[in-house]
Amino acid sequence: MTNPKRTWWKEAVVYQIYPRSFRDSNGDGIGDLRGIIEKLDYIQSLGVDVVWLNPIYQSPNDDNGYDISDYRDIMAQFGTIADFEEMLAGMHQRGIKLIMDLVVNHSSDEHEWFRQSRRSRDNPYRDYYYWWPAEKGKPPYRWSFFDVNSEAWQFDPPTDAYYLHYFSVKQPDLNWENPRVRREVYDLMRFWLDKGIDGFRIDVAAFFSKELPFREIPEEEIARQYGSWPDYYAKGPRLHEFLQEMHREVLADYDIMTVGEGSGVQIDDALSFVAEDRRELHMFFHFEGMGLDRDPQDPMLPRPGGWRLREFKEVYSRWDAVFKAQGWGSIYLGNHDQSRVVSRWGDDRPEYREASAKLLHTFLLSMRATPYIYYGDELGMTNIRFDSIAAYDDLMTKNYYQQLLQKGRHAEAARFLEGQKRLSRDNGRTPMQWHAGPHAGFTDGTPWLKVNPNHREINAERQEPDENSVLNYLRRMIRVRKANPVLIYGDYHLLAPEHEQLYAYTRTLAKSRALVLLNFSAQEVPFELPADFREAEILINNRDFLAQEGTRVQLQAYQALILLAREA
Ligand code: GLC
Ligand code: CA
Repeated sequence: MTNPKRTWWKEAVVYQIYPRSFRDSNGDGIGDLRGIIEKLDYIQSLGVDVVWLNPIYQSPNDDNGYDISDYRDIMAQFGTIADFEEMLAGMHQRGIKLIMDLVVNHSSDEHEWFRQSRRSRDNPYRDYYYWWPAEKGKPPYRWSFFDVNSEAWQFDPPTDAYYLHYFSVKQPDLNWENPRVRREVYDLMRFWLDKGIDGFRIDVAAFFSKELPFREIPEEEIARQYGSWPDYYAKGPRLHEFLQEMHREVLADYDIMTVGEGSGVQIDDALSFVAEDRRELHMFFHFEGMGLDRDPQDPMLPRPGGWRLREFKEVYSRWDAVFKAQGWGSIYLGNHDQSRVVSRWGDDRPEYREASAKLLHTFLLSMRATPYIYYGDELGMTNIRFDSIAAYDDLMTKNYYQQLLQKGRHAEAARFLEGQKRLSRDNGRTPMQWHAGPHAGFTDGTPWLKVNPNHREINAERQEPDENSVLNYLRRMIRVRKANPVLIYGDYHLLAPEHEQLYAYTRTLAKSRALVLLNFSAQEVPFELPADFREAEILINNRDFLAQEGTRVQLQAYQALILLAREA
């Protein structure tokens, strides 16, 4: 019997906003804080409790804000501190909390710390970053996720040394071994918390501690695309010491929520981050689900033949079980690093798009984990599927493509580009579709990234008055979750694990029992109702009818349904 302690962040529904793409208030083509302020009533109308904003700090935007040059100021394109304060107050007035992105594994190379650090070997900021003096020879190889050559060490002539950057050359890794760096991080966290924010999403939280001295990675591991990088990047010896220190020094003093990006975190390590007695984080995002449709031989490419529902069920069931007695989970199907959920996990053909988008919302909001909904997914926005490299903005796509060309691997480059139609991060970053007019109402200027032409059909204005729209379904589903604690806290039990089309599970909390039926296919699927659900109440149904004959229901294409057993 599980009995998790009730807390607000377990019951919260989080809405993620990519500020660059949400709403542009001044016609420069870039979303901004005043744009978010304009849309606060809309956000409130969704019924969400928390907004997570991608980074809004000063940044030269090599990686759209994930390269920060001043942690205490707002990116000029996004607005000012005064705009920020107005936005935060507007959220709080509406009962919405705000969590900010905390990006402290690395800074921008344009941050004052790094400008100093690269100046001389005895600069007081030298040890804010990792340096490898060239007289020691080449440093042991490390992969870089965004580098054109996949090399994480960059030679820097002024001091004849290499610096480490797990991401782009403009994102040098901060040296967490240095207590002054950690102090700076804790101070800047307090700076924002004291302004009243309600928590942090912590970027690549498992990467902070590096195994020192850097050792050579065996050739055969390097040869495999990214090889066993989690062993080298996400298990540093001082990682938990640092997270516990952060908790002690900052987090413990505030009633806030924290969610770490768990890139590289494997299931066996999950509890070490979030079990209550660890005093580290509340939740993190695991990546196992995001790997299901990637080629196991090469994660930069889609998996031939696509993903399988049986594996999908297995992954989400396994991650539920981990947090059964301790800790708490988070659940998401898309974000700014992923493509659009309906195109990826649903079916965006016109006849199935709405039903399958609603099905995915039913799933996210009926699991025992805090759900994160990404902007635009409430409308069932789809992948844009750029067909030329020039259309992309994301450095990850551009640099990897460049790398393949440089190596003369033209056929692979073409395959990669084709695969990006399914996997690229820019699919998830196209501007929000507010209405059918020019640029979908995102901007009066030229949008920084192309607007999906399907905004003429898929947009908020059109869905608003339609009670059967994806948008209104999401609102309803959020209300259903909130009205039925069994959907938040109830024990999860998977039914029919082998079924290839149907994802079915029960949730149980004391005497309350819910049955969730999700037909993840375009075929009809029959299902024999368990005895206690034969007279059940329908909590939600994404179709306007339920085909039932006696004890058997016949689920339609992408039908999603939650039944609540009548208490005996
Ligand atoms: C995380 C962010 C991603 C960013 C990277 C480097 O994975 O979610 O958007 O590019 O970290 O900061
Ligand atoms: Ca703007």
